[in-house]
Amino acid sequence: MNVAIIGGTGYVGLVTGVGLAAHNHQVICADINETKINGLNNGILPIYEEGLSDLLSEVKARKKIHFTSNISAAVEASDIIFVSVGTPEGKNGETDISQLVRALKSIANNMNTYKLIAIKSTVPVGTNEMARKFLQSNLKNHSCSFDVVSNPEFLRVGSAVQDFLSPERIIVGADSKKAADMMKKLYSSFDTPIIVTDTKSAEMIKYACNSYLATRISFINEIAEICEKVNADIHAVLDGMKLDKRIGGLYLSPGPGFGGPCLSKDIKSLINTGVKANANVNLLKSVMGRNDVQIMNIMHTVEHELAEMDAKKVSVLGLSFKAGTNDTRNSPAIRLIEKLIEKNYEIVVYDPVVKQLEDVLNPQVTFSKSADEAAKGSDCLIIMTEWDEFKKMDLKSVYYRMRTPVIIDTRNILSVEEAFKAGIRYSGIGTRKLQNKETMKVYRNIV
Ligand SMILES: NC(=O)c1ccc[n+]([C@@H]2O[C@H](COP(=O)([O-])OP(=O)(O)OC[C@H]3O[C@@H](n4cnc5c(N)ncnc54)[C@H](O)[C@@H]3O)[C@@H](O)[C@H]2O)c1
Repeated sequence: MNVAIIGGTGYVGLVTGVGLAAHNHQVICADINETKINGLNNGILPIYEEGLSDLLSEVKARKKIHFTSNISAAVEASDIIFVSVGTPEGKNGETDISQLVRALKSIANNMNTYKLIAIKSTVPVGTNEMARKFLQSNLKNHSCSFDVVSNPEFLRVGSAVQDFLSPERIIVGADSKKAADMMKKLYSSFDTPIIVTDTKSAEMIKYACNSYLATRISFINEIAEICEKVNADIHAVLDGMKLDKRIGGLYLSPGPGFGGPCLSKDIKSLINTGVKANANVNLLKSVMGRNDVQIMNIMHTVEHELAEMDAKKVSVLGLSFKAGTNDTRNSPAIRLIEKLIEKNYEIVVYDPVVKQLEDVLNPQVTFSKSADEAAKGSDCLIIMTEWDEFKKMDLKSVYYRMRTPVIIDTRNILSVEEAFKAGIRYSGIGTRKLQNKETMKVYRNIV
């Protein structure tokens, strides 16, 4: 089928375009960002995702995909028009749908025959209905008919290509049989259950999923804090929980809290929707609140560990919001760095793939070339992203490089026992401490 993706160089748009092209659809990725369009036409990808580069080369060679900033031409040439523009957080947790409105305007201006508009962006409940009315009242060519369907995306940053090509389910919110049948045809080569529902329920499914995942993370972070206070060990607690099939182990790792482009903004948006609808949203508010507590707790640990020190050089290992991506949007590491800057710590950072930060943060941190270099002369090493290379660090070497051998491992990726053996004063999230302050003073060494 002929498919256009409006927002086609974005995270979701590009992966959707390449994925549908791999399924033999004829795809045009259209975007207002000409730099990214030019880059893609010259083989430069705007994001890093495993497998994306190879798959793009393959579908390009078969002429299944094209990139353009000519939105009108893309709309005219396509039967199905995906909209995957950004829907960032607006004021007071509201979702800013201005990119969507602009995209809809372009579609309304350029419809030449029947079009199926599939909204992939995460949008508040009722937005598809609004989009249908907006298109109807802005349509230039009144002889054209159209349908609007909701087709939320569940891909994860870091495994986006695999998630798109092998999704666990495809959700289609459609108000007409014709629209639902077209979407089923589009996805007919995917070996995946397709759930067809109404547009509002489809929109809600996306928010319910992200809010549930965030709830699990906040829940286990709270359990981990209680473990620390009562001297229980979160690793043992998790081992005992995970085997319960009703619970399972995914999204149940204590850490610095959730981050990334979606979870926070989606929960805030759902809270906003609930409040407007007069629903009780106390649980969702607590999930968000707990996430903020997590960064504060890490800050408290840093301050507690360094309370007696004169020099305060802190090294942050990992900047992306999770391993496997260079995405730093709403990353816990960045939120922590902002707090460290407020307290005037000297900050050294290292990440295997992120090599610069936003302009406002860049001058306030020093980039290291390796974890080992970041440890040199440091008073506190904080692991914020679960990159494999941090799991394999030589802790004895880290011990000798640091001025004060203190590690705060917010991902629980190091062994408490190994850190203890290396002479390091170690804090995980919800883990037992094997050393006390006196031990640390004995082990303190100056590089
Ligand atoms: N990133 C994820 O992991 C993820 C996962 C599932 C769902 N989502 C949702 O998908 C949507 C897109 O997210 P993203 O991360 O891909 O955003 P993004 O910012 O990476 O991409 C959005 C793209 O839309 C383009 N754009 C904006 N207005 C346009 C217009 N009028 N015409 C053409 N192009 C336009 C931008 O230039 C940009 O390239 C959001 O609603 C998000 O919540 C994201």
